[in-house]
Amino acid sequence: MISRTWMARAFLVVAVAVLCFGVAYPREREPNGSYAERRARLRAQVDAPVVIFGFTGKEDASPSYIFGQEESFYYLTGHNEEGAVLVLLPNGGLKPAAPPEKSDSGPKEILFLPPRNKLVERWNGPRLGPDDPGIAEKTGFAVVEPYARLKDELERLAKDYIYFYTLLPGQNEAGYPHRATWSNWLRQNFPMMNLRDVSPPINAMRQIKSPSEMVVLGRAIELSADAHLEAMKMIRPGLFEYEVAARMEYVHKRGGAEREGYAPIVGAGFNSTLLHYNGVRAQIQDGDLVLMDVACEYGGYSADITRTVPANGKFTPRQREIYEIVLAAADAAIAAIKPGVTLGGNTPGSLQKIAYDIIDSRGKDKEGHSLGRYFIHGLGHHIGLNVHDPGVPGRALEPGMVITVEPGIYIPGENLGVRIEDDVLVTETGYKVLSARVPRTVEEIEKLMAEAKKKGN
Ligand code: GLY
Ligand code: MN
Ligand code: MN
Repeated sequence: MISRTWMARAFLVVAVAVLCFGVAYPREREPNGSYAERRARLRAQVDAPVVIFGFTGKEDASPSYIFGQEESFYYLTGHNEEGAVLVLLPNGGLKPAAPPEKSDSGPKEILFLPPRNKLVERWNGPRLGPDDPGIAEKTGFAVVEPYARLKDELERLAKDYIYFYTLLPGQNEAGYPHRATWSNWLRQNFPMMNLRDVSPPINAMRQIKSPSEMVVLGRAIELSADAHLEAMKMIRPGLFEYEVAARMEYVHKRGGAEREGYAPIVGAGFNSTLLHYNGVRAQIQDGDLVLMDVACEYGGYSADITRTVPANGKFTPRQREIYEIVLAAADAAIAAIKPGVTLGGNTPGSLQKIAYDIIDSRGKDKEGHSLGRYFIHGLGHHIGLNVHDPGVPGRALEPGMVITVEPGIYIPGENLGVRIEDDVLVTETGYKVLSARVPRTVEEIEKLMAEAKKKGN
């Protein structure tokens, strides 16, 4: 029989384990050399040490939380475990903020890892520890130190430099305390040091995807395309929105995706007009349009795909009219993609303006207004480690960028919302639509749905 004392102890262990670490699963990752090359490029752009804190696993108290690394930390390390810290020294490419003779000694890159905890590992599985044999080869860092040594190392550096680069809280991060917590920790422990934001150079690098990143992101897009095809084949009146979402999530998970890239949006009828509708509870009615903005995260990278289809397999004339205006806007914007063009802004030649001008010059609402007023969001954004990856407004497109093109028209008074969203790689000479195999035209969609009906899907 289990004694009360034992049970109390066991409870404590569980509580500690749960409090200390969430679950972290291994991801497909790029070769260590890809992360090392990024670190080298960052070190060439800074003139003081960079200190970046990974997530601790305590960012989310929800029991269903699955650990996913802080994005910029992951981008530079490929390390998807809790409680790690990255320290990089400038490589001298810029004028150092300290006398160079002082800053030349010691390692230039250190990965700090928490000690292994056998008790917690019984619950959550093994982690990498600083003293593991072969840790340098595993992580791609020549120097891996215990977390307990971090403060000493920073104290040493604080003697040589007048500031640290770290991730500082941005305007949009008020509700996400990671950056505030750790920049405050640096301020409290090193009050003599100024802090500078390391986000701009990292964000600029993240916008250009490397070939090895494209392998992982490409897998996220392929799995998401598979899910859209499955959804199109199953949709019919009487199903609930969540049944469609569930099938799509199943396809993602079955293909190895860790999680959704964002909360799935499956909206029928009026719900198709709600941009980020996450209710996903309603029953699909005959005559509805069903908007599906659903995509997965694979290897940390998120796709972002939207399709809009008629619940009964056949667009009404009005649905078709609006759908084809959105499609024309998407096609025109995509056709204009090439290096040098800008994505956003209302400037001549921007993709946003190309799409808006088409939407606003074709068709009318029931009151006779042009339709531009119903295109109420930006045309697109970068994707990558975040579904809304960093993008510098106004930066001209360059080869290697991956953006979404997602015009939409949402008319609540007609229960009619249409969005078509594709993921597009900018190439040297133009573009490549990475989600192209998901049907987009009225004919393609109606054909696929009719065939599925015939087969009894
Ligand atoms: N799925 C979110 C977006 O399209 O931006
Ligand atoms: Mn999007
Ligand atoms: Mn989307």
